[in-house]
Amino acid sequence: MSELARRLNQCKKPVGDQGKLVVEDMNESHYKLTGWGLDKVNILEDSTVLDIGCGGGRTVNRLVSLANKGKVCGIDYSSDCVRWASDYNKELIEEGRVFIKEASVEKLPFEDNKFDFVTAVETIYFWPHIEENIKEVKRVLKKGGKFIIINEIYDDVKFKERNEEFIKNSDMKIYSKDELKDFLKAAGYLNIQMEVKEQNNWICYVGEK
Ligand SMILES: C[S@@+](CC[C@H](N)C(=O)[O-])C[C@H]1O[C@@H](n2cnc3c(N)ncnc32)[C@H](O)[C@@H]1O
Repeated sequence: MSELARRLNQCKKPVGDQGKLVVEDMNESHYKLTGWGLDKVNILEDSTVLDIGCGGGRTVNRLVSLANKGKVCGIDYSSDCVRWASDYNKELIEEGRVFIKEASVEKLPFEDNKFDFVTAVETIYFWPHIEENIKEVKRVLKKGGKFIIINEIYDDVKFKERNEEFIKNSDMKIYSKDELKDFLKAAGYLNIQMEVKEQNNWICYVGEK
């Protein structure tokens, strides 16, 4: 397996010592991208927020600084990520402001209409049934709640070579602007907004329930 394949495999489901290194790196390297995406919404201080595919837990931590009178949950299907994200947010968990659970986006362990915001940073490439999974996200959003997708990769001719290399070395799926819009539309999201930072290949979609 190539070094790139190994890394992308760890991005899909970080585990073990190598996964820990990848997660620590992602906590750093996704910080700016995540801030760029989160700026597209107005997270109020009493919001209830879910971060799907929370990895090392830095986004969960950051969401608490926005929803500082609310609650923030993180889920990940990697039990190691749940442990690392829990360590990262230890004090906030003890204070009852953060909950981290092991779960897949396929079946979110929450009742309907619970969250004001759901974030998905650098994770939808790996979701097994994107159209169904995006509907499952909508189920747990309150009416008027927002789903925020933040990715540093979308299908675009400018990054064709690099992106093809990623696809060849992993089973990640790289979606185009239109595909993402169609998924959100098909799931019934309203007021769908998109922003890209073309020079970086960054994309952010926001859809409202
Ligand atoms: C590239 S990492 C991004 C982690 C974190 N969001 C960040 O920005 O640093 C992708 C994360 O999504 C998680 N993930 C992938 N598929 C998932 C699924 N079906 N359900 C829940 N989490 C998933 C992985 O375990 C991994 O932690």
